[in-house]
Amino acid sequence: MRLRQNGITRRAATLGLASAALGTMAAGTSLKPAHADFDLELASPLRSHSRVSGIKFGCASAAPSVQTDRVLLEKIATEADIFVPEGALKWDQTEPRPGEFNFAEGDSIAAFAARNDMLVHGHTLVWYTAIPPWVSQLGTAKDAQAALERHIGTEVSRYRGKIWAWDVVNEPIEPDDRLDNDYRNSVWLRCLGGDYVDLAFRLAHAADPKTPLCLNEYGIEYATGAARRKRQALLVLLQKLRDRNTPIDCLGLQSHLDCLQTFDRDELTAFLGSVVKLGYRLMITELDVNDAKLRGDGTQRDFAVARHVSEYLDIVFSVAKPASIATWGLSDRYTWLRQYYKRADGTPLRPLPLDVNFDRKRMWASLARYIAT
Ligand code: G3I
Repeated sequence: MRLRQNGITRRAATLGLASAALGTMAAGTSLKPAHADFDLELASPLRSHSRVSGIKFGCASAAPSVQTDRVLLEKIATEADIFVPEGALKWDQTEPRPGEFNFAEGDSIAAFAARNDMLVHGHTLVWYTAIPPWVSQLGTAKDAQAALERHIGTEVSRYRGKIWAWDVVNEPIEPDDRLDNDYRNSVWLRCLGGDYVDLAFRLAHAADPKTPLCLNEYGIEYATGAARRKRQALLVLLQKLRDRNTPIDCLGLQSHLDCLQTFDRDELTAFLGSVVKLGYRLMITELDVNDAKLRGDGTQRDFAVARHVSEYLDIVFSVAKPASIATWGLSDRYTWLRQYYKRADGTPLRPLPLDVNFDRKRMWASLARYIAT
């Protein structure tokens, strides 16, 4: 693979000296720091691959104005093309009170991205949660529509030209809520019915006609009844939006994976094929792998996680190259999964490309291979 060779030869050139030095080291003396994979550390960053393939790599993080870990921010700027705000652009952060906007965190992300030649993925405008109490208490179609008009209009206009793509509507489908069309129960559905999805996209498009607009969803990967119902309901919604000429461009596949689950290769391939046939670009938007119940030591789990990621990307790439692959975090040191999952052996979860010491793992290599495709 060209890039890797380039990476190795360029650095090996400087290492040539080192290898000579190596030669003279006492036999068996390893220069390899115990926890890091030397070859991986030598390889070019993920974002260098996207220059060749056009597939952007992104990762989620708290805003630089609140994330004080400079090493993490440096790694993000080195590895990623896209900065994904983990919480900074959510309604509870940007409009805590009606008409009162706070873009301090969002602006720090835009500034960081500009300084590091990065893009920003806008996450997210309309969601059933991470909303302030005044939004959850909206009770009429008129009030809900007015709130959406002001919120989407203000936030999208502010970042016009600075956003790579917007997650306009997040997680609209939940069959377990047993509502029409398997819509998820939300203040938006209660006030406006399913039409809120079309309305949100039209408002975002009006505020920024040039930026791709995505619907973002999770739980569609595996061979389970729940995933099958979600794929079916999501396809019905995506078809309906096409029929209404809703200005929507992409489907965000959150891809919160679980190593103990089995992919439904055939149905997932068929589903993604239908989505692409409807003219939607695919984006992998929140990739991580829950290994809370996976047996084995760190290295064994890293191989299993990397294998699971490769199997998943193989399925997606067999249908179409995604426009981007983003992980929900970059280092195991910062993962939302910790809030909800603990390992019985007390060791940290290993869901992301870099470990708690910011060293690259096998998952990083899987991503590099597909991003360079
Ligand atoms: O900012 C407040 C802080 O002021 C307060 O002291 C602290 C303690 O309560 O809470 C902080 O807010 C937290 C926020 O993250 C920022 O860190 C919220 O409690 C917490 O619920 C919120 O969790 C985020 C969650 O979405 C809800 O917004 C997670 O970090 C984030 O990883 C998670 O991400 C979601 C995606 O948006 C959509 N897909 C699933 C994914 C995982 O749940």
